[in-house]
Amino acid sequence: MPISDYRTALVTGANTGMGEAITRMLSAGGVQVYGVARNAAKLEEVADATGMRPIVADISDPAAIEAAVAGLEIDILVNNAGVSATGNILDATAESVDAMIDVNLRAVLHLCRLLAPGMVARNRGHIVNISSIAGTYNFFGHTAYHATKAAIHQVSRQLRNDMLGHKVRVTEICPGRVETEIFGRNLGGSPEDLKRAWEEFYEHYESVTTADIAGAARFALESPEHVNVGLIEIMPTLQVPGGLTFDPSR
Ligand SMILES: NC(=O)c1ccc[n+]([C@@H]2O[C@H](COP(=O)([O-])OP(=O)(O)OC[C@H]3O[C@@H](n4cnc5c(N)ncnc54)[C@H](OP(=O)(O)O)[C@@H]3O)[C@@H](O)[C@H]2O)c1
Repeated sequence: MPISDYRTALVTGANTGMGEAITRMLSAGGVQVYGVARNAAKLEEVADATGMRPIVADISDPAAIEAAVAGLEIDILVNNAGVSATGNILDATAESVDAMIDVNLRAVLHLCRLLAPGMVARNRGHIVNISSIAGTYNFFGHTAYHATKAAIHQVSRQLRNDMLGHKVRVTEICPGRVETEIFGRNLGGSPEDLKRAWEEFYEHYESVTTADIAGAARFALESPEHVNVGLIEIMPTLQVPGGLTFDPSR
């Protein structure tokens, strides 16, 4: 089905990275996008380029989420915004654990709670959740991040049961490494941090691009109405999960 069969979309994290790419793809397809993020200036830049309507909000705050979506009829919900952190549970701060749960998981549940009933009532909708291979495989990443992304996998599956009998589809896109700001933000978010992260994580490795992710979302959205693309795992060809690690000490 053409994307333009959907009229509206709400994309979290629409001002950069995958959210920006998905916003551009949806806008080009004729969908009116409402884009959510905290950085108003960056949101405005994407809005100017695409016609997206900016909503400046911090989705770690459930009241801000309610205010952001009040009165909106949304056909496509893209739960994309996410935060991560360096380290693991051994050196985690209370704030970093809460931020990951609040943005990566709690906001997703609240947005589904607020917007899915309208999709069901109108018998038209599509929820796209961006998870991560961190939710599927264990490797040396942040424990709280892995936990929230594993939860998004289960949320995506469970939503299908919640909305059975209606023309509302759910797609989980599960990326490996994608070239975005996320690793630079983990290091502090300054231009120097972004440069350092690029050198460490991207310069010498092949990554998936944000356009690849937008293309995966488009594939799911454009599939015939009777087809629910449930899960797309997408990694760089030269990245694989797996392997066993043994510590030689005892
Ligand atoms: N990049 C990767 O390698 C990779 C791999 C697997 C999965 N993912 C997942 O893919 C998704 C997109 O990540 P990305 O790599 O594109 O990240 P990114 O470039 O760091 O962008 C993150 C986005 O989330 C928004 N955001 C963060 N906290 C927010 C909050 N409290 N309220 C509202 N918006 C908030 C940011 O906008 P503001 O800062 O302006 O609010 C920004 O638009 C995330 O869920 C991430 O976990 C990324």
